[in-house]
Amino acid sequence: MQVGIPRETLPGETRVAATPETVKKLAQAGHRVLVERGAGTAARHPDADYEKAGAELADAGAALGAELVLKVRRPDAAELARMKSGAVLLGMLDPFDRDGLQALAGAGLTAFALEAAPRTTRAQSLDVLSSQANLAGYKAVLLATQYYGRIFPMMMTAAGTLKAARVVVLGAGVAGLQAIATARRLGAVVEASDVRPAAREQVESLGGKFIDVPYETDEEREIAEGVGGYARPMPAAWMARQAALVAERCKQADIVITTALIPGRPAPTLIQPDTVAAMKPGSVIVDLAVERGGNCPLSVPGEVVERDGVTLVGLANLPALLATDASALYARNVLDFLKLVIDAEGRFVLPADDDIVKACLVCKDGQVLRSA
Ligand code: NAI
Repeated sequence: MQVGIPRETLPGETRVAATPETVKKLAQAGHRVLVERGAGTAARHPDADYEKAGAELADAGAALGAELVLKVRRPDAAELARMKSGAVLLGMLDPFDRDGLQALAGAGLTAFALEAAPRTTRAQSLDVLSSQANLAGYKAVLLATQYYGRIFPMMMTAAGTLKAARVVVLGAGVAGLQAIATARRLGAVVEASDVRPAAREQVESLGGKFIDVPYETDEEREIAEGVGGYARPMPAAWMARQAALVAERCKQADIVITTALIPGRPAPTLIQPDTVAAMKPGSVIVDLAVERGGNCPLSVPGEVVERDGVTLVGLANLPALLATDASALYARNVLDFLKLVIDAEGRFVLPADDDIVKACLVCKDGQVLRSA
């Protein structure tokens, strides 16, 4: 098959969907791999490395015009115009954006949104949400260290003792757990909150303290269990109790890292403006949910702003700040997914009964196949 690897065009998108490592495997399997010149430059993979791995360097038209196109982000209108009807597309295609999927269907593509894979053991090696959120959680802590005017570990010096930073992590999924682990490694004291009861043990196993918001009704407990591992919107009464407790913890905190998300919905508001106003001057909030509306309404997407002496870091797409590692993991996720849809002869096949393939297939034959 012809496999195209275009350069990503979204501003700030430094990642690439295939690395020389994965291109080598595709070329060895007999595919003709067309890599757009410069596709890997921002991820520190020069064109020459792709050539050495067996790729042909191509222009954007050739890479986008391939039978199978591997992308990080959903192609925009200009890119779609250069793709062939009937081609197969793989990428992070934003499966909850109906209009976006409609555009892919309109271009006649068979498209797989990798974010839609189920969170099951078999799907782990192709789980792009996990591979990227893990890096985002790590980077969020490093960004916090950059904007925080103090240090993380307790330090006893001849000139006196410096106290350990207090870090609060809201949302203990993949990104939050990595943020906890990273902050702990730097010597901070860490507390975390999540709606899902399963999160408690995970937070504690990383040395964090769980901020407990007890469930007062069976309904609260049932909703908190979530669905498919994901959170659901909690009842207002629970959210109010959580907000009060979070406000208390934030007032004591030096750093707050928020990662709370609910699939297909705006991010829940966890930090109210009056909580920010009550925080210590010099404290830092890193809002990883900023692209979904933010966990704090004062976060500004793509910017670092100061309110009431608190620095709010609203930088988007943190994995793109770690382009080399983020691309390495993403490209391996892509390669693992391809094993499910390419047969031993190297042809594209659509297995009828594969739950991962079925979940990721968002459009085919001009139709959008997702209801959300
Ligand atoms: P996510 O990115 O959708 O959400 C981040 C976190 O925010 C979640 O832990 C969620 O419970 C939490 N959250 C939502 N509303 C909140 C609120 N009001 N207050 C506090 N926290 C709130 O989640 P992510 O990181 O994608 O993980 C989703 C699930 O998938 C988790 O249960 C995780 O353990 C599971 N998972 C399973 C895998 C497997 O078995 N193969 C692999 C990776 C993740």
